[in-house]
Amino acid sequence: MAEGSRAPSPSGRATVWVNCAVSADGRLAFAGGARAQLSGPEDLRRVQELRTEVDAILVGVGTVLLDDPSLRVHWELLGRPPGRSPQRLVVDALGRTPPKARVLDGSLPTVIATSERCHRTFPSHVRTVVAGRERVDLAALFTRLPELGIGRVLVEGGARILASVARAGLFDRWTIYYAPRFIGGLTAPPMLAGPEAGNLDATVPLELVGLERLGEGYVAGYRPGRRGPPAAEGVT
Ligand SMILES: NC(=O)c1ccc[n+]([C@@H]2O[C@H](COP(=O)([O-])OP(=O)(O)OC[C@H]3O[C@@H](n4cnc5c(N)ncnc54)[C@H](OP(=O)(O)O)[C@@H]3O)[C@@H](O)[C@H]2O)c1
Repeated sequence: MAEGSRAPSPSGRATVWVNCAVSADGRLAFAGGARAQLSGPEDLRRVQELRTEVDAILVGVGTVLLDDPSLRVHWELLGRPPGRSPQRLVVDALGRTPPKARVLDGSLPTVIATSERCHRTFPSHVRTVVAGRERVDLAALFTRLPELGIGRVLVEGGARILASVARAGLFDRWTIYYAPRFIGGLTAPPMLAGPEAGNLDATVPLELVGLERLGEGYVAGYRPGRRGPPAAEGVT
């Protein structure tokens, strides 16, 4: 992903990059959502590099509950001394982030995006943003991020957040590392856990902008595509 300015996108919202790692059959995790380390060493370094280029790393509260991520740059993997760290951003409509979650340890600036239904009090070092009545309205949140010094955000998951971002077309770049293994089954989360597409019109069109082998897997890069008929429509 090329380095660019830290300015928000022309839409007024923060620039949104999405990155995730999936199995070759498109699963984000093992059965029941158990965390899967799908990235090889080369991809882990690529992700750390991406994290250095953004102002915030975003996950949903489901990922906090299941994986308890630190959402920090692992400078040791880059072989560099620690530099500027992105903020941590959790989408948590009801305030379900556990008090002992690593994102609340106070070691890095942290923002929790909640809804009007949240009555939880967070530690004083945590900033909260109310965006939405029932759920977090991601479009509204992304529009407010530049006020918080977040011109560029990296969305890392999980399955429900990725589905919402994809369906609303709220991304500028989407990179996927495909690990060379199948997970299978019925309970391992797919990359997008959200509304199902019953026909082509209901799919999210993408434009492939990059494809490279990385270690044992490969990385594909996409940006939003244009709606329209597929090239071979009508061929069966
Ligand atoms: N392989 C990878 O790259 C990767 C990366 C990250 C996570 N994961 C995996 O993803 C799984 C977790 O995914 P998940 O779907 O359970 O959780 P998630 O997407 O991290 O968080 C979903 C939660 O966010 C809240 N939310 C609030 N507003 C929302 C909105 N507009 N759209 C979507 N969600 C909204 C909802 O909870 P409230 O209503 O309570 O707010 C919702 O249940 C885990 O298995 C984890 O290991 C994989």
